Amino acid sequence: MTNSKAVSEKQVIFLEDETATAQFAVKLAQVCEASGLYEKGLMIYLKGDLGAGKSFFSRAFIQYFLPDQKVKSPTYTIVESYNFCKFTIHHLDLYRLCDPEELEYLAVRDLLSKSYVALVEWPQKGEGVLPGADIEITLNHKQPGRQLELQALSTEGRQLLGSVPEF
Ligand SMILES: Nc1ncnc2c1ncn2[C@@H]1O[C@H](COP(=O)(O)OP(=O)(O)OP(=O)(O)O)[C@@H](O)[C@H]1O
Ligand SMILES: [Mg+2]
Repeated sequence: MTNSKAVSEKQVIFLEDETATAQFAVKLAQVCEASGLYEKGLMIYLKGDLGAGKSFFSRAFIQYFLPDQKVKSPTYTIVESYNFCKFTIHHLDLYRLCDPEELEYLAVRDLLSKSYVALVEWPQKGEGVLPGADIEITLNHKQPGRQLELQALSTEGRQLLGSVPEF
């Protein structure tokens, strides 16, 4: 749940190319693993323009843990889950959701009850049903690359981002 005291200032990072996006995803993946906060579950919202790199970011994050893993787009299935020994990564894309209640039919609450890291594209479409974010990432086109905004929205999110000084 969003706790106003836990909301951090937005950090703005420029990602000059795909490699910079992938490197950022790996950095965040490393912090998620090292923190152990996945035991309670970590919700990472991925917002921003169509084609800004949310899926690209998610693929790099997942492949840090599972290098040979084929990462499918969850656009039609809504959720794809990947088991890593310490936790499960749930990759959601809610773009095609008509109503947040559809998440109930997909038993998303059950999925989000064990150790997990959830990467959620288009979280706005699940508002009211989807648990609140620990971290919110917003990617937007900024030629020639992308602008990434990063914000912690919970105590855990703050703890997570605070453990990496250069974030
Ligand atoms: N920093 C960057 N600079 C330039 N291009 C980038 C950068 N990061 C990612 N990309 C490219 O942006 C494209 C974005 O595609 P992607 O499918 O990830 O977008 P998306 O945000 O998931 O879109 P959608 O909202 O449709 O799901 C990819 O082809 C990727 O190579
Ligand atoms: Mg996408």
